[in-house]
Amino acid sequence: MMKKILLATEKPFAAEAVGLIKEIADKAGYQIILLEKYTDKSDLLKAVSDVDAMIIRSDIVDAEVLDAAKQLKIVVRAGAGYDNIDLAAATAHGVVAMNTPGQNSNAVAELAIGMMIFQARKQFNGKAGSELKGKTLGIHAYGNVGKCVATIAKGFGMEIFAFDPYIPREQIEADGVHCVDTVEALYAKSQYVSLHIPANAETKNSVNYKLLTSMPKPATLVNTARKEVVNEEDLLKVFVDRPDFSYVSDIEPACAAEIKEKFTGRFFFTPKKMGAQTEEANVNAGLAAIHQIIDFFEKGDVRFQVNK
Ligand code: 3PG
Repeated sequence: MMKKILLATEKPFAAEAVGLIKEIADKAGYQIILLEKYTDKSDLLKAVSDVDAMIIRSDIVDAEVLDAAKQLKIVVRAGAGYDNIDLAAATAHGVVAMNTPGQNSNAVAELAIGMMIFQARKQFNGKAGSELKGKTLGIHAYGNVGKCVATIAKGFGMEIFAFDPYIPREQIEADGVHCVDTVEALYAKSQYVSLHIPANAETKNSVNYKLLTSMPKPATLVNTARKEVVNEEDLLKVFVDRPDFSYVSDIEPACAAEIKEKFTGRFFFTPKKMGAQTEEANVNAGLAAIHQIIDFFEKGDVRFQVNK
């Protein structure tokens, strides 16, 4: 029987990406079932009941979804961060979980730089802003996105620092980026800090008062990672104690209402997560996902598995 692959995207891919995914699945003898813009979890629970594989974005795949997905063998998060998948539950259900690293990095990096310019130019409000040239930028984690941000920021003439204990120093320095040994040193040197850490037990709430208030003035925090990595109680204190501080974030923090009420002009929040929302990123991540699923079924390829 033809295997079924559910493309479950609450925030849909560009039509071009969906068309290409269908084309590839079709050629390989797989059926795509499309569930876009669903508004209730029950829709997802119903749709997963008889599928063999799933492609998702930030869609939540928890134990309840896995319980309902009786035939499921593999779920691929078309994107980088997989904090939306309950990995332990996937393993317990015998489901392979994968991501598609690097596929949407450029899109996210361009948004980070775009938000920096937007804030530096006072949100294009007609008043004199500032330039990125000559300013210091700290890249908090030098993975695929961090590296892309560094490449673009170099073109703007920024001085770039990076902190990443998992990437060899030589690799960072080969890109013309200063490698710092501690997270404290990164924030203490950087007028702009761009976050590229995943959200996990180690990183949640880790961007705190001490780090943020050590940034040179004027300071801007750029978050295209996950809102959960910033300690929001501390964030609100920083807004009060450091009038030079701005926060631009791809998705609203939980404390957005308070920031909006009190700190006009010093923040920008996207209404929905926009970092990977380009046609190119949708095509790259979507095609990687469908290929990974086909390779998994046809060749047993588990190269991108994240729940080993
Ligand atoms: C990622 O982790 O790849 C990005 O946050 C993109 O998320 P999205 O697919 O929900 O836009």
